[in-house]
Amino acid sequence: MNFTMNTSEIILPFNKEKKVSWRSPSNIALVKYWGKKENQIPSNPSLSFTLSESYTETSIFYKKKEYLNAASLEFRFEGKKNLPFQNKIEGFLKKIIEYFPFLTELQLKIDSRNSFPHSAGIASSASSMSALALCLCSIEKKHFGSLNDKNEFFTKASFIARLGSGSASRSVFPYAATWGEIIENSISSDEFASVLPFELNPKFKNYKDAILIISKQTKKVSSTAGHALMVGHPFAKERFILAKKNLKLLLSALKLGDEKSFIEIVENEALTLHALMMSSNPGFILIHPNTLKIIEKVRDYREKTGIKLCFTLDAGPNIHLLYSDNDSDEVEKYIKKELVQYCENEFWISDKMGEGPMEIL
Ligand code: PMV
Repeated sequence: MNFTMNTSEIILPFNKEKKVSWRSPSNIALVKYWGKKENQIPSNPSLSFTLSESYTETSIFYKKKEYLNAASLEFRFEGKKNLPFQNKIEGFLKKIIEYFPFLTELQLKIDSRNSFPHSAGIASSASSMSALALCLCSIEKKHFGSLNDKNEFFTKASFIARLGSGSASRSVFPYAATWGEIIENSISSDEFASVLPFELNPKFKNYKDAILIISKQTKKVSSTAGHALMVGHPFAKERFILAKKNLKLLLSALKLGDEKSFIEIVENEALTLHALMMSSNPGFILIHPNTLKIIEKVRDYREKTGIKLCFTLDAGPNIHLLYSDNDSDEVEKYIKKELVQYCENEFWISDKMGEGPMEIL
């Protein structure tokens, strides 16, 4: 697919400031993307559930530059100027200029806020980069007569979000998305994510995600550094084969409503991700003793009660507990009684699968 614009179409008729805004959710990977090639191309395909309560809201205020050398970006995070974020966004905008050539002629003010506390140890790159990508696609759609087709709009947003943060490519779709080539599934691409090629079994459509915050500290090793350590990793080849196999098995479980296989694959993926970190060179450990305590308790609880509660982890110590909404009273009672004691300041977030991003008009 070609995501560049036809530059001859570009006329900028607006001198008055205009605005676009999007709310975009975070997502939790069930089959993990870990390892990449140049230009944010993943080494293996991944699949995630789109969340609903953990999101970023981003607005871009834009007008034509008065002087060609005028500063072009002012970035505010939660109402305050934020230079490190501004520098990151500036770098990103430079990288994507070929897909939005009008950016050279615009003066931008970007305001962004998260629904979750900034220092909660929750990665915000998926929600923030997807919100920003959606805003840019909205500017293109409003003024340049392209991206009118819904599928084209969200596919370009996913493609652009991917260039900011790989996992962000999956956040622009409702419920669940895959990203990366899966061979026989021709709609899947390494360049952008897509919705599942079938209707998700109703059993999974009401899934909840309790995010247990074990530590609010910033990670010792960034995911960029972690991905890089997969180059030359002794288990890389097997890992990329396993991820593809797990993805195919998970797709079938999601289609058939097979919760038993779902649990096996999801927990295996979480533990494999951290095993890869530990066996990198240098190896590193992001889980915490309390992460392990909760894993043990969750497996005990499942065995004793038969309730299909399982865990996954992202690149950090925090735990995502996945369960059906039908079991939420029971499970949430259990979380409050037995698990919050292992969370930093007993903090956890009750999230659930969501319908994807929303334009704020
Ligand atoms: O998108 P990144 O570069 O922050 O990497 C995300 C890596 C994991 O969260 C561990 C897995 C995933 O697929 O989201």
